[in-house]
Amino acid sequence: MALTLEQNELLTRTNRGTPMGEMLREYWMPAARSAALERDGAPKRVRLMGENFVAFRASDGRVGFVDEACPHRSASLALGRNEQGGLRCIFHGWKIDPSGKVVDTPCEPADRRAAFAAAQKVRAFPTHEVGGAVWVYLGKQATPPRFPEFEFTRLPASHVDIRRGLVHYNWLQGLEAHIDSSHVGVLHSGFIGRGVGDAQLRDLNLTMVDTAPDFEMDVTSYGLREGALRSVPGDKTYARIRQIVLPFFTFIPGAKGDPCSGRATVPVDDEWDAEWYIVYDPDKPLTQDKLANLYRGTSQDPDNFSANLGDRDNLWHQDREAMKAGHWSGLTRNIPFEDFIIQSSMGPLVDRSQEQLGSADAIIVRVRRLLLDALEAYRRGGAIPWRSDDIDFAAIRALAVTFPKGQDWRQFAPDFAAHRAAAE
Ligand code: FES
Ligand SMILES: [Fe+2]
Repeated sequence: MALTLEQNELLTRTNRGTPMGEMLREYWMPAARSAALERDGAPKRVRLMGENFVAFRASDGRVGFVDEACPHRSASLALGRNEQGGLRCIFHGWKIDPSGKVVDTPCEPADRRAAFAAAQKVRAFPTHEVGGAVWVYLGKQATPPRFPEFEFTRLPASHVDIRRGLVHYNWLQGLEAHIDSSHVGVLHSGFIGRGVGDAQLRDLNLTMVDTAPDFEMDVTSYGLREGALRSVPGDKTYARIRQIVLPFFTFIPGAKGDPCSGRATVPVDDEWDAEWYIVYDPDKPLTQDKLANLYRGTSQDPDNFSANLGDRDNLWHQDREAMKAGHWSGLTRNIPFEDFIIQSSMGPLVDRSQEQLGSADAIIVRVRRLLLDALEAYRRGGAIPWRSDDIDFAAIRALAVTFPKGQDWRQFAPDFAAHRAAAE
């Protein structure tokens, strides 16, 4: 289904007060890399869904997450001094502790300073720190919802790499790129089809055997799982099982023995998107050469690994010579950049009423429908989907498996038994 303009607006706009914005604020979301916040170090600006915040780590290690604008007269707290247990505005010296209390207002008369400070209100938000990131809850409930303990959030730091790319397009374009597996054998064929001598791509080469796989989808309590099924030599089926944990996460299978990968697509504002890439190995520490290979050609800034992506004026550094020499897209730096560039090329907020969809777009259609239905239920009665207490987030894992033809791919999905009841 191509969307109406009105539906497109509904799904893409996330500022405070919009239906999607209000619903998305009810989910924990990654906000900053843990390593970017030093004790008593510089506060970091964080922009989420059109609002500006700062995150800071106080002397005792706790993280504060507050509006960027000082509660006194709106000077930026990103300029503040972070010291002795709180963040102090450099304009008149108000000091805010990590729980969001004003603890000092030095310009007020000494005899009523403490009472005056205690009476001030600060917009501060609950944080949770796991998986190498500080997560924040921006919603309305006094008690934040249960944190989704994905497998990677339970692993030691050595087993997880998390980094962020900031890209110039709406969050839904980001999500739709991750769920659209039919492009893998086309857009990424410059990397995958040629083998490029990279062990990580061994299994992915099987996607080239058949660029029009059969897709089967199950709606689950957390979103949906999808099997992309290809016939491969030896009377076998190659299934790539992807997990889409709405509203932000996609888990994508790698090759056998390689780390797992997850992605979160979080709105910065209506025209910018934070792409969180998570690589994790449940069994052993990650190796630097694996990561270097995966992020070859990206910027070296883990807070914005796509800083060097390029733009429309330079066509994102597309290499026509490489295309002549056989590279499909000419976007030769790495696979994530191919995705980022394609989404950027659509413009910051694509008009989905102009699309012409085919059967290979079934998953896109399905996810849009799920989002629209969820929004409708949320607007009517405040229902918030995909986070019920019985979801075992740690069991949700993407997988690529080859098995004799005729078997059901679902028996290989580790979360299948747990979520069978919710399937359609
Ligand atoms: S504006 Fe921050 S203390 Fe006055
Ligand atoms: Fe892709």
